Amino acid sequence: MLLQIKNLTKKFGGLTAVDNIDIAINNGEIASIIGPNGAGKTTVFNCITGIYQPSSGEIFLKGNKLNGLRPHKITRMGIARTFQNIRLFAEMTAIENVMIGRHIKTETGILGAVIKNSRAVKEERDISSKAMDLLEFAGLRKKASIWARNLSYGDQRRLEIARALASEPRLLLLDEPAAGMNPKETETLMELIKSIRQKGITIILIEHDMKVVMAISERVVVLDYGVKIAEGLPEEIKKNTMVIEAYLGKELYRAS
Ligand SMILES: Nc1ncnc2c1ncn2[C@@H]1O[C@H](COP(=O)(O)OP(=O)(O)OP(=O)(O)O)[C@@H](O)[C@H]1O
Ligand SMILES: [Mg+2]
Repeated sequence: MLLQIKNLTKKFGGLTAVDNIDIAINNGEIASIIGPNGAGKTTVFNCITGIYQPSSGEIFLKGNKLNGLRPHKITRMGIARTFQNIRLFAEMTAIENVMIGRHIKTETGILGAVIKNSRAVKEERDISSKAMDLLEFAGLRKKASIWARNLSYGDQRRLEIARALASEPRLLLLDEPAAGMNPKETETLMELIKSIRQKGITIILIEHDMKVVMAISERVVVLDYGVKIAEGLPEEIKKNTMVIEAYLGKELYRAS
């Protein structure tokens, strides 16, 4: 098992956003978390990545407890993520955005990049060639020198994934990567996610597009009002009456 979430609860004042949930993620799988708006999905990601401290419960990566660690430490332990609302440096190029994601792995870090001693210069060259490889992997090689804000929406979402990969994670958390994509972009995204898994990276996907969820996940966890109401294979989840009532019925209605 790679990630273990035990009795996780997150409260905001009187609101229980995540209510005593257990989730176990196996090494190498693609697992999805689905559920209605406000169900607590993003809050789970924020607890895993140290943006929020759980109100109670524990989170372990390969048996190492993540509670109390700062977000950058958790990144260094091998967890990377993308955000529901794209967070790129708008007036930096695509490759610069990926290089920023890489600096966390290097010794000299951002300061070294500014001071530019000889070791930092070599490291910088190394970082830029690795960043180019990642852009290539994400299908963005030709767009390396375009400002992030001038990229199409689909390209921006894939750039965020490339940047997350730059920290060389073993676990990648994707928060609604297909949001706002057209069907063709969504197809490309699904292929990208599958090839990330082929590199041996475990993926947790939050997604409202059921076509994506059902096509690529091996396991689906369903949240509703912060509670885990179901967990199983995609085919099982599709047939689960509680899930249909809480969520899927509405999604299908919305889609038709
Ligand atoms: N920082 C915060 N302060 C107060 N309430 C919050 C905070 N973050 C999330 N919440 C609340 O917690 C609940 C769960 O929010 P969360 O963003 O995790 O839902 P979600 O499942 O990701 O929804 P969506 O599908 O709309 O993205 C919501 O009621 C939300 O308003
Ligand atoms: Mg969310």
